Amino acid sequence: MTKEHSDHVDPANTITLDSHDATSIPSRRRFIKGVGLSSLAAATGGASMNTWAQQNPPATSPTNAGAAAEGKVRVAFTVNGQKKQIDVAPNVILLDALRDYLGLTGTKKGCDHGQCGACNVQVNGKVINSCLSLAVMHEGDEITTVEGLGGSAGKLSPLQQAFHEHDAFQCGYCTSGQLMSADFVLRNEQHIASDDATVREAMSGNICRCGAYKNILSAIQSARDKA
Ligand code: FES
Ligand code: FES
Repeated sequence: MTKEHSDHVDPANTITLDSHDATSIPSRRRFIKGVGLSSLAAATGGASMNTWAQQNPPATSPTNAGAAAEGKVRVAFTVNGQKKQIDVAPNVILLDALRDYLGLTGTKKGCDHGQCGACNVQVNGKVINSCLSLAVMHEGDEITTVEGLGGSAGKLSPLQQAFHEHDAFQCGYCTSGQLMSADFVLRNEQHIASDDATVREAMSGNICRCGAYKNILSAIQSARDKA
């Protein structure tokens, strides 16, 4: 942990995550309830959604300022503009850290193998599969999830607004990952051309099982110049 982060994160806010916590699965009924609510969150910004993780937060373990909990590694990073500090087992993936301990359930676990893009977040401005990245690798990083796209709670970014207006989702499970990739595409136009084929190619890492691609493309193109 860098000194900069240790100076700014309240140790009382440190939370501890172990591999058991990260893989503990809610009952099927609770899981389905959580998916339904957080799908809507993905489409509408999600910051205020009362999701399963928020209703059932994992036990927190305040630690002292100097040491991570036994068997854990302390990681401090910035998530959606807020400094966070967690103690995690070394094998906890970033996706689970975000969902299970920070309550940011807009980011979805689809394939868990880097193939669907449902878990995409932005780290230091680049899109990554959070299912393929260990939380401990992100010391000092700036992470943005779908909850942070609109800036402040309850606000939609122009891109999110375009997804809403173009009906660019059905079940919504892929939507947050689509948004994180599309946001990157629109912010890097010098590298990515604006024709439909190029945008489709740039978005090819995001799979939509509902087949909402046509409307997703329309939303992205309509949000161009507004992002
Ligand atoms: S859940 Fe990460 S790419 Fe599918
Ligand atoms: S909207 Fe259902 S998977 Fe894309």
